[in-house]
Amino acid sequence: MQKIRTMRARGAATQLVALSFTLPGVIERRGFLRAMDRIFSATASSYDRIWEKMGTSVVLAPLDRALQEFSEPPARILDLACGTGLAAFRLAETFPKARIVGADISQTMLNRFQTKAGTGKGGNLFPLLSPSGNLPFADNTFDLVLTQNAPPYPEEMVRVLRPGGSFFLLFSFVFVAPVRRIVRQRLLPLALCDIKIEKAAEGMAVTARKCKERRS
Ligand SMILES: C[S@@+](CC[C@H](N)C(=O)[O-])C[C@H]1O[C@@H](n2cnc3c(N)ncnc32)[C@H](O)[C@@H]1O
Repeated sequence: MQKIRTMRARGAATQLVALSFTLPGVIERRGFLRAMDRIFSATASSYDRIWEKMGTSVVLAPLDRALQEFSEPPARILDLACGTGLAAFRLAETFPKARIVGADISQTMLNRFQTKAGTGKGGNLFPLLSPSGNLPFADNTFDLVLTQNAPPYPEEMVRVLRPGGSFFLLFSFVFVAPVRRIVRQRLLPLALCDIKIEKAAEGMAVTARKCKERRS
């Protein structure tokens, strides 16, 4: 049963990632955003249990891999499409002094995030209702911007990241060569340096830094 669940998750996630990177216009359409909100609001109450069954350590392996890159703790973190806060709470444990904003388009997912934050799991966590592709932040605001298991909006991520800041795209069940190629091609024209795509358990951690100087 567990194997079937993982296979389904891998198939759906691989298709979504490939689509997001090859046809970014699709994930910006209002209809797509509404569908995402509907789907995830409907699953919010069982969401954490689903991941627990799949193995939280497997789901979080790409984040844990990406965190090995850090020398200095980030002070301002933005977790895009944070859902119920799986990654955000791990980050709050790792960087207890950081201020962490978790943004999502589903208020229902954010309500669960907020309830967990209120039970003392993380004092510096701030939920925000916002689409990942259109954020209410100035350029160069955050030290770390990440998104885990969600449609990626890399241009907007880079915009709000400060020069030298860290960029993570994390997928717990996607690691096929064609997708890795698509991801790299899409990221290469952006102001990102040291792009790495690494395997972590069943998924991948894509890490980079926002270049400090404009590349020619
Ligand atoms: C599979 S869940 C991942 C949640 C969380 N990152 C995690 O790892 O558990 C996908 C989340 O992305 C959110 N989402 C999807 N599209 C989004 C968008 N364009 N902007 C913000 N959130 C989005 C959904 O509401 C949902 O909470």
